Amino acid sequence: MSKDGDARTQTYADYLNLHEFLELQGGDELSNDQLHFVIVHQSFELWFKLIISELRCVRDVLDQTLVPEAEVPTAVHHMERVTEIFRLMAHQWKVMGTLTPQDFLTFRDGLGTASGFESFQMRELEIMLGLPDSDRVAEMDPLAHFRKLAERSERDAEILARLEATAAAPSLAASLMRWLSRTPIQGSLAGDEGDEAVVSSFVEAYLAAQGRLADEAMERLAVQGVQDMDAVRARFEGAAEGAKEFLMPGGDADRARVGLLFIESYRELPLLAWPRTLIDAVVGLEEAMLLWRSTHARMVERMIGRRVGTGGSSGVDYLDATTRYRVFGDLWAVRTLLIKQEALPPLENPHFYGFAGDSA
Ligand code: HEM
Repeated sequence: MSKDGDARTQTYADYLNLHEFLELQGGDELSNDQLHFVIVHQSFELWFKLIISELRCVRDVLDQTLVPEAEVPTAVHHMERVTEIFRLMAHQWKVMGTLTPQDFLTFRDGLGTASGFESFQMRELEIMLGLPDSDRVAEMDPLAHFRKLAERSERDAEILARLEATAAAPSLAASLMRWLSRTPIQGSLAGDEGDEAVVSSFVEAYLAAQGRLADEAMERLAVQGVQDMDAVRARFEGAAEGAKEFLMPGGDADRARVGLLFIESYRELPLLAWPRTLIDAVVGLEEAMLLWRSTHARMVERMIGRRVGTGGSSGVDYLDATTRYRVFGDLWAVRTLLIKQEALPPLENPHFYGFAGDSA
């Protein structure tokens, strides 16, 4: 159990710094409800600390120029832990919710302008994941408030420096997309001679297969006597254009997105098993985080209704808007494009993927 202490004499309390730790909630001046309020917040912040550390490990694995295959399971392991923490934290709001609205109001004014909005660990975690400022509510710059605070003290300046360093480092989302851009597509590696042609012809074959499925679906709808076939056709055409724009924004194939589509489409191939598990883990993590955001908003709505937050935001409306964030938007968006297995373009070079079956 030893960190640095003497393992022969060290106690549980020594190892965990319990004496100092248990003083950090405040003393007899706190009412029971206030103690509850502080402890729930502090436990969330403790989990944030671990989440940041876990995600940094994932980012470091994925940020390598060549990610050793054996390290992908490690990244998945860290990610799954974070997902479980978010699931646990989503339940933790229930504990907060045992505070009645009236009891909260007895000490709410004492919070002043203090708000979860100022949770610098939450901001660090969002920045590390790679949430772009342009996607935030009102395109807010998450560092702006901390720049103001940094003028107050050395400690606040350190927080700002930490956030700036995280913002300057590669995000998990960017590292993930770089890793995806190196996916072997039909046995061709990024940088191989003729790779661009292989990728383009895969995209063309895929879009053609999607078009055939859309034609079949429209035929079925016409047979069923669907009234406004023009509107249905326009919908399918819009979907086809959306798929093309996703895979070839501005005309050139986006290798990361095509790689993602390839992994999702040929998921059963042995070489793609861990990459697809990793993608599933990332989506699982983002989903758990969004559900956590959503349960926070519901708890807040029950507690304070639709009043202005202590941080000055629109309160519940603001929190609900944050549930629309998608840091890993491409991983969600690709699902719209997926087609059934038997309609996929034939796999080329199956042996490359450790698959012994025929290519047709
Ligand atoms: C009585 C309980 C709570 C209420 C009424 C409440 C209310 C709010 C409101 C209204 C906001 C929007 C910003 C503002 O204007 O203040 C907010 C943001 C936030 N709260 Fe809470 N909250 C509560 C408990 C918690 C707890 C226990 C945590 C755990 C750390 C937390 C974490 C956050 C975070 C991280 C944000 C920023 C969200 C973002 O900008 O994406 N809140 N909260």
